[in-house]
Amino acid sequence: MATVTFVEHDGTSHDVDIVEGESLMELATSSAVPGIEGDCGGEAACGTCHIIVSDEWVGTTGLRTDRESQMLEMSPECVTSSRLACQVVASGALDGLRVRLPEFQM
Ligand code: FES
Repeated sequence: MATVTFVEHDGTSHDVDIVEGESLMELATSSAVPGIEGDCGGEAACGTCHIIVSDEWVGTTGLRTDRESQMLEMSPECVTSSRLACQVVASGALDGLRVRLPEFQM
């Protein structure tokens, strides 16, 4: 089974099975991964699903949109590879992906 790993700020990791077509936010919240809240339900409007993609995966996950940037740049923990997990669609191509969570969500 293809998996994505969410790594909390303290280093605790959570392997989650990929469900094709769901967002990474949906995968995380349905697996009760701490630190991913998804308050707006995936509308890119709350910023509570901030993830940090490792540099080697940015080419696969893609770059964030202007709308994502508007939300993410309000976070002091925003970096170049920050994404909103609700805007990244899961697929088998993401098997093995590890994403870090910021210490605090907005
Ligand atoms: S769930 Fe609200 S911005 Fe992603």
